[in-house]
Amino acid sequence: MKFKVPYIDLPKQYANMETDLSSAIKAVFSSGSFILRDDVKKFEKNMANYLGCRCIIGLNSGTDSLFLAIHAQRFEPASEIITVSHTFIATIAAIKHCGLEPVLVDIGEDYNMDVNRIEEAVTNRTCGIIPVHLNGRACEMSKIMEIAKRHDLVVIEDSCQALGASYKGKKTGTFGIGCFSLHPIKTVGAPGDGGFLATDDESFAEKIRLLRDHGQKTKDEIEAFGFNSRLDNLHAAVLNIKYKYLKKWIEKRRTIASKYHQGLFSISELRLPPPPSDGEFYDVYSSYCICAERRDDLVEHLARKGIEVFVHWRKPVHLQKALGLGKFNLPRTEYVSKTVLSLPIYPEMEDSAVDVVIAAIKKFYHKK
Ligand SMILES: Cc1ncc(COP(=O)(O)O)c(C=O)c1O
Repeated sequence: MKFKVPYIDLPKQYANMETDLSSAIKAVFSSGSFILRDDVKKFEKNMANYLGCRCIIGLNSGTDSLFLAIHAQRFEPASEIITVSHTFIATIAAIKHCGLEPVLVDIGEDYNMDVNRIEEAVTNRTCGIIPVHLNGRACEMSKIMEIAKRHDLVVIEDSCQALGASYKGKKTGTFGIGCFSLHPIKTVGAPGDGGFLATDDESFAEKIRLLRDHGQKTKDEIEAFGFNSRLDNLHAAVLNIKYKYLKKWIEKRRTIASKYHQGLFSISELRLPPPPSDGEFYDVYSSYCICAERRDDLVEHLARKGIEVFVHWRKPVHLQKALGLGKFNLPRTEYVSKTVLSLPIYPEMEDSAVDVVIAAIKKFYHKK
């Protein structure tokens, strides 16, 4: 189905940068540079500069960045990692794939980990915390780092939805070990899967570099049983073009968020994210996520008007029967899953399209 206002418009993004992308792609093909070549190095350097951290390791997905960050710690089997259920399944799957137990805590008003729930979840088997910076908003990192320090826990940040967001002037993914996704729908997306890990610890970075490439130090020296999780050079070449637009794209997302806020704040049936501010939280609105009364009817109404929205997520991970995580009591997570939806937001979105979305929502709630 073709929507009048799509959730995201990747063909339009491509059309706006077609010349630059075509020459970057041509350069990769004509030089035959496909695996761990200069474009990957350049991308890693770009991201290190942008985030203000020492080491970036390009990987094949955000999922692998989480998995490798945990795997490389060599935690005792069955150790526990505290995270949230209100996240994409990859966060929790990465914990399980490392033979560890996810301990799920509830979220706060901002959809992120409720920092007041962390300490009661700590046991003598807890080894780490994975805060998830959802929708482009940072978790309350001062509190999380303080708790981690007190209990000697490793902090692995799931920053897959929050490239560019910051808390008290420090970018997400640079407080602990940062895990990022470059999935096509992210703020800077590869033409396929991609991700990276951020760390200031050179020796940890070296471990991840080995693990992403079969544990090979050189072609003749294998230092560990590794994996194949390299960011493709072709993807890196595309990402280096898109990287030039990152700041501008984030500003545009913040402008759209502001417009949504102005247009919708008076509707009492909705709960909106805070408008953009330059205070403690610098939000990048990777999604513009709202809670709405009669959510499912609203989603249908918007679809009828040609507006595409997303629901992240209708059924939280701990309620997925097949996963056996049903023992957690997470009322706020469950409430959010019944009311949440994400409105279209992307840098190429015209003001008129934002107006169309606002008008359609107002009409649904009979507001002028
Ligand atoms: C919060 C979160 N964690 C992890 C991931 C996994 O990233 P990827 O799709 O690059 O593997 C995503 C991707 O959408 C995500 O949103």
